[in-house]
Amino acid sequence: MPIQATEKIWHNGKWINWDDAKLHVLSHVVSYGSAVFEGIRCYETKQGPAIFRLREHMQRLVNSAKIYRMELPYSVDDFSNTACELVRINKMNSCYVKPIVLRGYGDVGVNPLHSPIDVYMACWHWGAYLGPDALSKGVDVGVSSWTRIAPNTLPAMSKAAANYMNSQLVNMEARLNGFVEGIALDYSGHISEGSGENVFLVHDGTLYTPPLATSILPGITRNTVVQLAHDLGIPFKEAVIPREMLYIADEIFFAGTAVEITPIRSVDHVQVGKGVAGPVTVKLQAEFFALTSGAKPDRHNWLTPVGAPVTAASR
Ligand SMILES: Cc1ncc(COP(=O)(O)O)c(C=O)c1O
Repeated sequence: MPIQATEKIWHNGKWINWDDAKLHVLSHVVSYGSAVFEGIRCYETKQGPAIFRLREHMQRLVNSAKIYRMELPYSVDDFSNTACELVRINKMNSCYVKPIVLRGYGDVGVNPLHSPIDVYMACWHWGAYLGPDALSKGVDVGVSSWTRIAPNTLPAMSKAAANYMNSQLVNMEARLNGFVEGIALDYSGHISEGSGENVFLVHDGTLYTPPLATSILPGITRNTVVQLAHDLGIPFKEAVIPREMLYIADEIFFAGTAVEITPIRSVDHVQVGKGVAGPVTVKLQAEFFALTSGAKPDRHNWLTPVGAPVTAASR
């Protein structure tokens, strides 16, 4: 999916042109992966563009930075206000917003503490992450031969760039084996997560997802799905899940900002349920999109209106 440039990027409190957002190759982050970031969706609604779960994402960004002792001169409120301004300035109706905090140029060696902290925030248009049919037809996935980062190695609760080296191995292997995405197991062989998304499954009418201790990112969409399951009266359990549940589950789906709620139709070539999105997945998907599109009232205050755009006679 080639990136589509927008006009402005925010850098340490200033607006710069897209093409000027450049780094020195000897910046600490380039050699040592020292960055934390977020991925946030802004949705088009009748009332204009609105960012989904903005404060929760910015709080996770601040938490990710804290874990790595990155001192931030900006608060959750500062980041949230900047994100709204970013979408307005770039005149977007819907987009993906990416704030990134990185160790910049200035010192050599592994010790990160003397390299400056640089903060950027950009946005661009982003459609369906796993292809145009993924949301309706579901995707084929494989269990990865790569283990998810183990506890007390790289902290999975921090959305750090370095974690995505592991994700890349999982993703590449899946793609090369003809799957759309991989599911990684944790260090003890239990289900962890996809390369960029959390996993849910339905078994005997109960919805399950693995706990934080299985090296998952604490997904905001994961949290959204849990709340929606509660709202819709769907029984839910957070549990350590053995791999083989993937082969006997009635339904499985990915949840994440990029994939939203994407059904999984097969795992390791074993069909999931009837090979199409099951009833629980469909129900959760419908509720999710009704809320993100503004079609249903925002009962949880999950949308932050940005103001401006939506023209073409207000659609
Ligand atoms: C590794 C990983 N797990 C899970 C998720 C889902 O998290 P969220 O729903 O907050 O986007 C993501 C996406 O950011 C991710 O990269």
